[in-house]
Amino acid sequence: MFRFGVDYYPEHWSEARWEEDARLMAEANFNVVRLAEFAWSKMEPENGIFDFQWLDRAIDILALHDIKAILGTPTASPPPWLMSKQEDLFRVDQDGRRLTYGNRREYCPNNSLYHDLSRRIVLKMAEHYHDHPAVIGWQIDNEFGDRCYCSICRKAFQVWLCDRYGSLEELNEQWGTAFWSHVYTDWSEIPTPLNTGGSPNPGLALDFFRFASDSYINYQEMQINVLREMCPGHFITHNLMGFHYKFLNYFELAKDLDFVSWDIYWRTQWNMEADVDPSWPALGHDTMRGLKGKNFWVMEQQSGSGGWELVSVSPRPGELRLWAYQSIAHGADAIIFFRWRTARFGTEEYWHGVLDHHGEPGRRYEEIRRMGAEINEIGQLIHGSQIQAPVAFLLSYDSRFAFQIQGNNPRFSYPEHFHDFYRAFYNQQVLVDIVTPISDLSQYKLVVAPALHIVTEEIAKNLEGFVRGGGVLVVTPRTGVKDEANAVVDQPLPGLLAELCGVKVEEYCSLPIDLDNGIQFSINDFPSTSHPAEVWCDLLQPKGAKVIARYTQDYFAGTPAITLNDYGEGKAVYMGTMGKPTLFETFAGWLLDKVGVKPTLLVPKEVEVGERWQGDRRIIFLLNHSEATQEIPIEGRYIDLLNESTPVEGILMIPPRGVFVLQEG
Ligand code: GAL
Repeated sequence: MFRFGVDYYPEHWSEARWEEDARLMAEANFNVVRLAEFAWSKMEPENGIFDFQWLDRAIDILALHDIKAILGTPTASPPPWLMSKQEDLFRVDQDGRRLTYGNRREYCPNNSLYHDLSRRIVLKMAEHYHDHPAVIGWQIDNEFGDRCYCSICRKAFQVWLCDRYGSLEELNEQWGTAFWSHVYTDWSEIPTPLNTGGSPNPGLALDFFRFASDSYINYQEMQINVLREMCPGHFITHNLMGFHYKFLNYFELAKDLDFVSWDIYWRTQWNMEADVDPSWPALGHDTMRGLKGKNFWVMEQQSGSGGWELVSVSPRPGELRLWAYQSIAHGADAIIFFRWRTARFGTEEYWHGVLDHHGEPGRRYEEIRRMGAEINEIGQLIHGSQIQAPVAFLLSYDSRFAFQIQGNNPRFSYPEHFHDFYRAFYNQQVLVDIVTPISDLSQYKLVVAPALHIVTEEIAKNLEGFVRGGGVLVVTPRTGVKDEANAVVDQPLPGLLAELCGVKVEEYCSLPIDLDNGIQFSINDFPSTSHPAEVWCDLLQPKGAKVIARYTQDYFAGTPAITLNDYGEGKAVYMGTMGKPTLFETFAGWLLDKVGVKPTLLVPKEVEVGERWQGDRRIIFLLNHSEATQEIPIEGRYIDLLNESTPVEGILMIPPRGVFVLQEG
C-alpha cells in the first residue's frame, strides 16, 4: 500500500487537540504517522520508570481514523537524567572538544552505558507495541551521524584495527608508518586523528572514518536485533540524509534495514537562493534508491519553510506537491511530510509544518490534501513500480572519505564533481542509478566513475568485466590513485585501471585557483570543439587508446586530455580534466549517443521526466520546475492519471509547478 502521512508530535500539544488533529489528517488522506522519535523523556521520565499511556491514547485516536503508526526509537535525543550521569556519554569532536547538553545527537556511539540504556528503552517499546494492531514498523534513531573522537572510541578503534589487520606488522606496513617514525609497537599507542595531531597519516585517518561509520552501524544493529526478535511482523528502517551526508557509509548502513527512508528538504535556512536546483534532490533520491537497489520511503518531505534561527524562503504555491511527486518519480513508495503542526517552542520553532503554529488549515494543508486525494486514486498503481535506468554512477564512500582527508586541489570537491557529471545526465532526462563500484553492472549501457580514487583488485575486475562484456565506462581525474589503505599505488596512474583505459597518466597538473587551461576536441563526431579545463589536468600518454581531446595552453598544450580505449566488446573513456556544466553536458550527450540511449519524451529543460514500470505498464511523471507554463509535444498514446484517465494527445500544456502522471497505452 502506498503510505501517505505526516510526522506527528502529540506530546507537544494538549490532548484535547488530538482528535481534531486526527480528523484533519484523515481529511488530508493521511494513512500513516511517524511518532515518538524524540519522546524519550515522555516514555521514560525517570531512570527505569516507563510510561506509554499517553502514546497509547494518541495511537488509539489515530487508529480510529484508520491512520497507522511508525514508531521512532528515541535514542537521537536522550533525556537530561541520562546525559548527566557520566561525562563520557557525550561525543568529542575532531578538535578534541567534548559536546555538552542542549541540542541532540550528542551521544558517543560506543559508550556502553548508552548502549545499555538504549537497548532497554527499545526493548520496553517493543514489548509494549509488538502486537498493537495500529503499529506497522519502526524507524531506528534519527539521522545517524557525526564522528566521535573520545577515548572510548579510541579504544574501540584499536580493537577494530586489530580485527582488520591481525598484526601490528601488517598495520605498520599498510599505513607506511616508517614515514615520520610512526611505527606502532602496541595497539594502545594508536591515536584517533584529532585536529590537534595535525594532518594525519592517510591510512590511519581513512580507517578511523571507516570505523566511525561502523560504530553507528553496530549501534543500529543492537537496536535492530531487539526489534527483530520482539516484532517480527514489523518493518525496520532508518531516516538517512541523502547524497549530501558524508560521514557514514550508507551502503553498509542500509544493509540491515528492510528499506531505506530519507529526509529531503529543498528550501532551508542554509540555502536562501530564490531558485533551487532540482538535480540535487534528484541525486539524493537516486542515491537512496541505489543503497539497496530498491524503492525507498521519504520519512520527512518538506511541508513548509525550514529553519532554526532563520526562516527559509517560503515554498511557493505548488512546490510542496511538485517536490513530493519528484520523490515518487525517483522511486518513493511512501511520502511522509515533516511535520504536522509547527512547534511553538524548541529549537525548531521556525521549521514549518503542514499547519502553522495556530493549527488552522491553510494553503499548505490544502495543497497536500489535494495530493492526498490524488494518491488515493493512483497510489496502488504506483506502489512497487520499478525504475529501469540505463546509466549507473559509481559512488565510493572509501574515495569520498579519502578526499575528506586529502582534498587534492582547493577547488575540487568529490560531491560537487559527482553532481556536475550527474546533472549532465539529469538535464538530458536520462535515468541514473547510483551503485557501488562492486555492484553487478551488467544491466547498464554506460557507467560513470567520478574520481574513483580508491580502486581495489575486486573493483578493477568488476569494471574490466563490465567493459569486456560491451559496456562503456567513463572515469575522471584522480581515479585509481590509491589502494585500500589510502597509500598511493606503485604503478603508473590510473593504477589498476591503466590497462583497461589503455592510457598512462604521464604527469598531472593541479591547477591554480585562478587559472584554467582549455581542451580542444579532435574527433569529428564530437559536437562542440573547445571548452575550459578546470581544477586538474592529467597529461595522458595513450597506450592503445585513441585521443579525443587535447589541452590547448601552457607547457602541456597539445597533450592528450581525454582518450577512448576499445577493450573487449566495450570501451573505456579516460577524462583527464574537469570543466563547466556545458563540458559535462556535451560529453554526456555524446556518450549517450554512442550507447544509443534516448530520452523518453523531448521536453523543455525546465521539465523533468520520470519513469516507473508497473510490470509492462509504463508510468511517466512530468514535473514542471519553472514559473512558466511549458508545452510538451506528446507522441504515442497516454492517459492522464490525475485527470480521470482522459487520453492525452498533441501538445500538453503543463502549468507552472505543475505535475502530470501519464500512463502509456
Ligand atoms: C531533520 C530531522 C528532523 C527535523 C528536521 C528539520 O533533519 O530528522 O527531526 O529536525 O530535520 O530540522
